[in-house]
Amino acid sequence: MRLDRLIQSSLRMGTREARHFLATRKVKVNGIVETMGNAQIGYFDRVEARGEVLQARTPRYVMLHKPIGVVSATTDLLHQTVIELIREPWAGELHLAGRLDRFTSGLVVLTNDGAFSKALTLPEKKVPKTYLVSTDSDTPPEAVSAFEKGMPFAKEGVTTEPAIVDQLSPRSCRLTIFEGKHHQVKRMFLRFGIRVVALHRESVGNLHLNDLAAGMYRELTAEERLVP
Ligand code: URA
Repeated sequence: MRLDRLIQSSLRMGTREARHFLATRKVKVNGIVETMGNAQIGYFDRVEARGEVLQARTPRYVMLHKPIGVVSATTDLLHQTVIELIREPWAGELHLAGRLDRFTSGLVVLTNDGAFSKALTLPEKKVPKTYLVSTDSDTPPEAVSAFEKGMPFAKEGVTTEPAIVDQLSPRSCRLTIFEGKHHQVKRMFLRFGIRVVALHRESVGNLHLNDLAAGMYRELTAEERLVP
């Protein structure tokens, strides 16, 4: 956003008044005097005018172990949301960097940094997402081959990236996919008449849930924030 627009809206000034005010050198952006109305202000830039803080935000990055039954949404009339599990005064600023369906548990990332969530979720970034999958029947070799080759998803008009399948038993596997289509894992198995009975996301890119208990969350480390 332009600095003059920010001044106008937060100090209720008109265009000319804001321009004159900026010229009095009373506005600081990240501690440095700024007089140019067309200066671009980022979401996390700190803006002060006459010592009064007009904008100051801290980037937040959280991983949550979403329990089954909780919805990946910021508001919901019926069900508990992932946001309600984040007991922080800034929880309301967060948005989801990728969703899990209500009956899937595991790693969900929440942030107020749009660039970070895009880096995790844009299809062209091909960020790996690893799931533990349990099914109601055995997975045949032709299903594994199809997953590893990539499958057409007619609704979206795309073919999935080749997945990585680590068969743990005839009815369970660790599956890594590289996109996040709606109900993707369940739809992949259903194509072969197999129902997924339990689905749990262990990791997204370099972010690993490890032993974080269901319903618990933690902020990402500086290193985890670097490479999505
Ligand atoms: N695939 C699914 O079917 N559900 C999820 O929540 C994530 C991937």
